[in-house]
Order: sequence, then structure tokens, then C-alpha cells
Amino acid sequence: MKKMTFQFCGKSGLQLPSISLGLWHNFGSVDVYENSRKMILYAFDRGITHFDLANNYGPESGSAEETFGRVLHNDLAGYRDQMIISTKAGYYMWPGPYGDGGSRKYLLASLDQSLQRMNLNYVDIFYHHRPDPDTPIEESMLALDQAVKQGKTLYVGLSSYTSEQTKQAMRIMQELRTPCIIHQVKYNMFDRDIERDLLNTLKEFGLGCIVFSPLAQGLLTEKYLTDIPPDSRAAKPTGFLNKDAITDQRISQIKELNSIAQSRNQSLAQLAVAWVLRHKSVTSALIGASSVEQIDDNLKVLENSELSAEELKQIDNVLQ
Ligand SMILES: NC(=O)c1ccc[n+]([C@@H]2O[C@H](COP(=O)([O-])OP(=O)(O)OC[C@H]3O[C@@H](n4cnc5c(N)ncnc54)[C@H](OP(=O)(O)O)[C@@H]3O)[C@@H](O)[C@H]2O)c1
Repeated sequence: MKKMTFQFCGKSGLQLPSISLGLWHNFGSVDVYENSRKMILYAFDRGITHFDLANNYGPESGSAEETFGRVLHNDLAGYRDQMIISTKAGYYMWPGPYGDGGSRKYLLASLDQSLQRMNLNYVDIFYHHRPDPDTPIEESMLALDQAVKQGKTLYVGLSSYTSEQTKQAMRIMQELRTPCIIHQVKYNMFDRDIERDLLNTLKEFGLGCIVFSPLAQGLLTEKYLTDIPPDSRAAKPTGFLNKDAITDQRISQIKELNSIAQSRNQSLAQLAVAWVLRHKSVTSALIGASSVEQIDDNLKVLENSELSAEELKQIDNVLQ
């Protein structure tokens, strides 16, 4: 298998692997620990140095961080300095007015809890998970800045901020000289919103871009071509992929995309990852997985990631 490639994250000195692993699904207390452990070790062995978490990943909330902390300490204890570990706060985490949103109170308390669950002194990247319209952006940014000053994170990032919100946030970060280096946002063939203006804004501020759900939660694979398999995200009661998203029109698009992938001698998942990585502003494709085999499949994109103008046109035609 081809070796992992690394890109600088925006204008920072931090390099991220082209493929990162996210622990949103399949690493919670409801999942089989041994499978989660195998995926983390397999990924790290193949150059996936970046693992992405959040306070609420599970279920139950917090348990993905516990799983990751357990693997880290039992199996990867000597490797902390070879890893980039991120976590986030921004969604509901605990009852009352201080367990959700973007207040200084919530963000800093949540980071402490995340560090405790993973048994870490610091994370590499701490994100505000989503914009909070009820909290001034300045307050959330000052809280991220404080987390850096406390030594609890090395870098900070924004997730799912619009282009305008990103500009506002980055003006504050530049003034504070806070190492806000990355934006995490959804991007895949079925969701191209960031092409409108966010990518330009990220370039303007020298921010890296890590894209989540590059496989549209599994839709951009061969998984749903004939039915909804019982062990799939769409079939699981704890999954976030709604069965309603699997329409006839989607399936026919997926079939056409699958033919393009086949003509390139690769899987649809590989084509979907190659497609997000084609964009120079995309630093890393943040995939999820439920098995080692899926990680293995997705990594093979490194052997065939160039897309011709003709292939890109064919894909655009299918997506129109
Ligand atoms: N910042 C945010 O707000 C936000 C939001 C969402 C996600 N994220 C981050 O992004 C990460 C990735 O998101 P995602 O899990 O939605 O990504 P994704 O890569 O689009 O979907 C992952 C799912 O696709 C299926 N899959 C993966 N590889 C496959 C293959 N080769 N063949 C067939 N099926 C395959 C698996 O589904 P099955 O489980 O059905 O097998 C897997 O769980 C998350 O873990 C999280 O870290 C961040």
C-alpha cells in the first residue's frame, strides 16, 4: 500500500495526514470495544496520525473519548507525540444552561472533562463544534484562546461556522494571535455548500480545512445499492443517517458514480475520498468506519487519487 501523504494545515506548521479517522460512530459504549481498538491501531499503523473526537461522541455521550483514552493508554502509550488528537464542544452535553452552546463557562469546563475522559494533559486541537447564535463570537473565541493559554490545547479550530462567522471569528483570533488553524466542515459529492464561499474565506485567512462525512455517512459506497444492510448506520437506532436520505434518485446517482469508480478500477468510497482531496484547500478527509476492512479500502485511494478533467465532468453531470 502507498505511504500516507501529509499536507500543511493552512499556513500553519502542522501537517495532517490526507486521511484522518473520526470517532463519531462505532467507538461508543454501545459498540464492541475490541473492534474499536482494532480500528484505531490499524489506522495508526498505516499513517493515520490524526484522530478526531468530540465531547458528545458515543453513545453514550463521552464514551468515545473514554474508548480512545483506554486504547491510547493500553496500546499506544509511547506514541503520544506522533499523534494529533482533537476534541470539540458545542452540542448538548449536560443538563442546565452550562452544558451546551458557546459560553466560556461551557467550553472550558467541557475541555476539562474531555481531558479527564481521555486521561490526557492536553489535546492538539480544540474546536468550537458549531456556532452559537446566543453567545457573542468574541466570548467563544476568548474561551478558545484561554484553553491555549492554559496549555490544554496546542491549536484551536472552528467547525461548521459560515463564511461570515468565520471572518468575524478570525479577525478576533488574529488580534489575539491565537493559533486558530483549522476549519472542520461537511463536504462530499452530495453536499457542496463550502464551494460557494467558505473555501475562499479559509484561503483568505490561511486556515486549513478538514472535511467530515466525505462518504456522506456511507451513501457514497456500495453499501446501499440494493438494500439497507442490518449492520449499517442507516439501520442502527443510534446512527445519524436517516433512512429517508436513501431515495430512488440517490440510489440511481450512486449507481452512476459507482460505474465511474469501476472504470477507474477503484471502489466508490475511494472515488469519493479522491474527489474531496482534489481540492487544494482541503487538508484532510475525515472518514468514519465500522471495520478495519473499510479503513483498508479507503486508504487505497492513495494509490489512485488523481482525477482527470473528463472524470470530474462526468461526476458533475451525475450530480446535476
Ligand atoms: N464537526 C462536526 O460537526 C462533525 C459532524 C459529523 C462528523 N464529524 C467528524 O467526521 C468523522 C467522519 O464522519 P462520518 O462518519 O459521517 O464519515 P463518512 O466517512 O462519510 O461515513 C463513515 C461511514 O461510512 C461507511 N463506510 C466507510 N468506509 C466504507 C467503505 N469503504 N465501504 C462501505 N462503507 C464504508 C461506514 O458506515 P457503516 O457504519 O454503515 O458501516 C462508516 O461508518 C466523524 O467521525 C467525526 O469525527 C464532525
